[in-house]
Amino acid sequence: MKIAILGHGVVGSGTAEVFLKNKKSIEAGLGKEVALKYVLEIRDAGEFPDCAYSDCFVKDFNLILDDPEVTVVAELIGGIEPAYSFVKALLLKGKSVVTSNKELVAKKGAELLAIAREKNAAFLFEASVGGGIPIIRPLNQCLAADSINEIAGILNGTTNFILTKMFRDGMGFDEALKLAQEYGYAERDPSDDVNGIDACRKICILASIIFGKRVNPDNALVLAEGISKLNREDIAFCESKGGTAKLIARAVKRGDKVEVSVCPTFVSNDSQLAGVSDVYNAILVRGEATGDVVFYGKGAGKYPTASAVVNDIANALKNSGASSTLIWDEEEQVLSEVTFAEKFGNIRVFDNL
Ligand code: HSE
Repeated sequence: MKIAILGHGVVGSGTAEVFLKNKKSIEAGLGKEVALKYVLEIRDAGEFPDCAYSDCFVKDFNLILDDPEVTVVAELIGGIEPAYSFVKALLLKGKSVVTSNKELVAKKGAELLAIAREKNAAFLFEASVGGGIPIIRPLNQCLAADSINEIAGILNGTTNFILTKMFRDGMGFDEALKLAQEYGYAERDPSDDVNGIDACRKICILASIIFGKRVNPDNALVLAEGISKLNREDIAFCESKGGTAKLIARAVKRGDKVEVSVCPTFVSNDSQLAGVSDVYNAILVRGEATGDVVFYGKGAGKYPTASAVVNDIANALKNSGASSTLIWDEEEQVLSEVTFAEKFGNIRVFDNL
């Protein structure tokens, strides 16, 4: 069974490495041999002199699309184009696709899942939310029987890392951002992290799964604010109330409507989210029967993200129709304006967080 990787950036190269390192155990699970056949990359293989799989590098996407040996492709280019056209073409050919591309899943997920289902292929995206934390599969498979009305969490590693470095270690914003970029946490355009856009895409993916309809990150009722205006008075306010400030992404169902927000938020020291620092993410899921369930782990970085991608690859190799139960309607979820208990400076206080 042959796989291909589109894009040889931080996550793409990590995925190739983790896949090759775990090849034997993947093969043991499948009872078949697996191999990496192509890496689609615009740069020349010569730019990666120590690469053990440089013979896999190609520049023509059609080689992968038209190769019947390739059954699973990992899209790790990021952004909408050309990723969307490539993924759609692959699914239409019946090939399974896995991706870490949150923008693609948030904006085109409903359509791509529908195509995957029609073609009995898998479209899996565990790595798109929470880096190495398993959250999509548990939401879809383990908590599906419960009625979930709220999901809230720290979904962006870069901003949580910056906040930790600034407010715990006294580092400047620019220095902390530079470090996050060096560690491979930040997006190519880090303003998507800093402005709350990345976390907004992720909460919209989680909300689409739990509410079953497309939650559109571009809907004007979605509140998306970042951390760039956060100041010491905001932090002092949170500390005086017995807590801290975190960039919280949240989706809450009220009747038929859903509130979606990403903003600097007061988090009480009693909350499990208060102690989440550095690049770690935490996702709190409130189920009617289960009560609060919290998922915690590294939310960004080469290897945590690559590990989630490789796990999806192994699942797609095992069962091409794996996406058939994961689906949400193309019809847009009706949203309502975000309500909160209090606002001080750049901080919002929500009830029960
Ligand atoms: N830039 C993202 C983050 C990467 O910092 O969380 C993982 O999605």
